[in-house]
Amino acid sequence: ARLDMTETFHHISFPGHIHTQDSLNYALHFQFRDRDTVIATYPKSGTTWMQEIVTLVKNRGDPQLSKTVPNWARAPWLEQHYSAKVLEATQGDRIITTHLPYNLLSSALQGSKAKVIYVARNPKDVAVSYYHFHKMAKFLPEPNSFDEFLDSFLEGSVSYGSWFDHVKGWTSQAGVLANGLYISYEEMWLDLQGSMERISSFLHCPLVGDELTNSLRHCSFSSMSDNAMVNYTQIPKEIMDHSKGKFMRKGKIGDWRNTFTEEQIGIFDTVYSYQMKDCPLTFMWE
Ligand code: PPS
Repeated sequence: ARLDMTETFHHISFPGHIHTQDSLNYALHFQFRDRDTVIATYPKSGTTWMQEIVTLVKNRGDPQLSKTVPNWARAPWLEQHYSAKVLEATQGDRIITTHLPYNLLSSALQGSKAKVIYVARNPKDVAVSYYHFHKMAKFLPEPNSFDEFLDSFLEGSVSYGSWFDHVKGWTSQAGVLANGLYISYEEMWLDLQGSMERISSFLHCPLVGDELTNSLRHCSFSSMSDNAMVNYTQIPKEIMDHSKGKFMRKGKIGDWRNTFTEEQIGIFDTVYSYQMKDCPLTFMWE
């Protein structure tokens, strides 16, 4: 049985079992504090990885918190139904995650000094990762074939909406570029140390010596795959069917080549160039 009821909000569908109209409205009117760090991502773009990096940076490489508290409890998703309780109970620095598109959060973020980090990933890898996640996550619709899923992805009718709108919104001048940090999954993958240094200096928590070495060790793909607080193995099988795949699936860049056919590459590239034609940024995968 699937739990794939959806909650439609501002023309975007959200998984119904963790989102309600109230929780989505709560996000839109959220009062950010200056000491908040906001991690914004389209799904499957490096969210969990960034939650781990920010947790480690804020704890100067000490893995205690990352190994004892689940990611969703220490970096809750603003739009999910439990976040109000968690966030209001947190004193001091908060790490807040969101998959919402920029246009829905722009007024809440207006004038706030919260630090925003946006992570983007090659959309072809996102599509493959998201497809596999749909197979195991019972709160998402059954994806059927990759071909069918890819159509919905390109059309923007999947949960959380269009990848193109998400990336264009958050990386616009009004989005994250002016005061936030934009980083790609690819950059983190190719140079984790350099990325960690960029992130920690952006957060005004520069790491020295062992703080950096420890942080790097604990957020590697292999450490995170073994960490039950981030690998989702504790989620009941009615919600995530672990016989259908692993959350920490491959953690690679360019893995889309093993899935896309020539025809799918052609269609994807056509939609991509049309959708991104007015976007002034050049992405690492282009
Ligand atoms: S979610 O459901 O939106 O929160 O998913 P998200 O965390 O954004 O993305 C999951 C993908 O990120 C990969 N991942 C990593 N890659 C490299 N290094 C580390 N440490 C890491 N942690 C998570 C994870 O394996 C998913 O990608 P795929 O391609 O499916 O393996």
